[in-house]
Amino acid sequence: MMMGKTIRTFSLAAACAFLGLGASASTHSETINVAVTIRADQPGPTIRPEIYGQFAEHLGTGIYEGVWVGENSSIPNTNGYRNDVIEALRELNVPVVRWPGGCFADEYHWRDGIGPRDKRPVKVNTHWGGVAETNEFGTHEFMTFAEMIGAKVYINGNLGSGTVQEMAEWIEYMTSDTNSTLANERRKNGRDEPWEVHYFGIGNEAWGCGGNMRPEYYADLFRHYATYIKTPPGKRPKIIASGGYGESTEWVDVLTKMVEKDMDGISHHYYTLPLGDWEKKGKSTGFPESEWISTLERTMLIDKIIADNIKILDERDPEGKIGFYIDEWGTWYDPEPGRNPGFLWQHNTLRDALVAAVNFNIFHRHAKRVHMANIAQMVNVLQAMILTEGPRMALTPTYHVFHMYKPFQGATYLPTDVDTPHYRLGDSAVPAVTVSAARGTDGKIHFALANLDPHREASVQTSLRGAQARAATGRVLTAKTMDAHNTVDAPENVKPAPISAKRRGDTLVLRLPPKSVTVVTLQ
Ligand code: AHR
Repeated sequence: MMMGKTIRTFSLAAACAFLGLGASASTHSETINVAVTIRADQPGPTIRPEIYGQFAEHLGTGIYEGVWVGENSSIPNTNGYRNDVIEALRELNVPVVRWPGGCFADEYHWRDGIGPRDKRPVKVNTHWGGVAETNEFGTHEFMTFAEMIGAKVYINGNLGSGTVQEMAEWIEYMTSDTNSTLANERRKNGRDEPWEVHYFGIGNEAWGCGGNMRPEYYADLFRHYATYIKTPPGKRPKIIASGGYGESTEWVDVLTKMVEKDMDGISHHYYTLPLGDWEKKGKSTGFPESEWISTLERTMLIDKIIADNIKILDERDPEGKIGFYIDEWGTWYDPEPGRNPGFLWQHNTLRDALVAAVNFNIFHRHAKRVHMANIAQMVNVLQAMILTEGPRMALTPTYHVFHMYKPFQGATYLPTDVDTPHYRLGDSAVPAVTVSAARGTDGKIHFALANLDPHREASVQTSLRGAQARAATGRVLTAKTMDAHNTVDAPENVKPAPISAKRRGDTLVLRLPPKSVTVVTLQ
């Protein structure tokens, strides 16, 4: 049950019968038949824009070089922010950015990153490569960055190695509109108006790099620290507890038992490793088909992970106040030869585009409880939107999928009934086509489809209940090879192309190329 309300596999013969083609109808052997009904008569929850959130950590060249080059750089910039990256991110309508980590957050002391830049202490980024952290990019730089790209902010506080006082003072520094010493220090550092902190995380991965804690111990600390998150009236951020990872439900279980207030969300991290092994994850390019399918199969596990955690949340919080925040997700491959392994730089291929689409289609279905998701990460790290090399950049296939899915931000989820065969290889099997539909804020129905089969085209017979459509137009992303990717020398190797379909009888027939992501708007 990965996609629509129901999924049944069915043979080609059954497909022909379903489509009224008859056993003798000629069907191209390389085409699979899929039937989808969009239930526009059963609108569901809003797909919060924050599901398209991003994560930017002080890691490798994610911030320094990727976003911030400094005012004196020869790379074209505005007050230190590189122009090309800012422009590309603005185009994505990034709804929210999580910063400064990650594991880095639990070693970050905010006072290091304020005041004159040349006076800021240089620290060691002990978690990520042991490199110098100049603290040039601090609170003011991050807040300005978020404003430049029009995103809300999700600040992750330091619980692992910071104090309650330090966390409370950071909040006061950022949000106070009084005449307090901290608010005036902010003003002296160039910001008169208080900022709005939309989301605040108390620690990160408390089970690991955030302090190796048991959930019970963390739950007490959450209660303690959250008490001191104080802001002017009406400006309280949503407070996010550090939750579990992988297939675990333990953290949601313990936190919902032990924390009665202040907790607006519980975070969860899930990374897709093609081989499922942290010691040998799999390569980002040049991988065999077995790793294409295993990557997609492992990505789909998130459906059950979300459902299992939601089951507990629904029991303990039937009013639905506590969100499930998947604030780190995406692919994680072996280090790229020749690069610092601590920088988590990897290529981003057509396979990553499929991973993004599969995740979105799943997140949408759980939109009632999944209040935010943040891909790891924004620039130059893991499943990035953008890869930079000196003054040049390339938009990744993942970027294009985020762009194509823009109409889903704030849209109303529409359930789908899907009949699809499976794409199989060895012992692995995944539904060949996964879909999602929604009524956008523009009133139109948007329909996303991912064809996971790398060999066969999919013919998707689409019918609508509660609405009508004559045609569909949109964009499709595909390429010749599974590991096709963009580089600064070949930045347009993988890019969306137009696609359209017309109604035939009662259905729209969309023809999806093998290994492709399609998003269309129905007319
Ligand atoms: O995204 C990279 C790292 O993965 C984050 O810092 C950490 O939270 C997770 O383990």
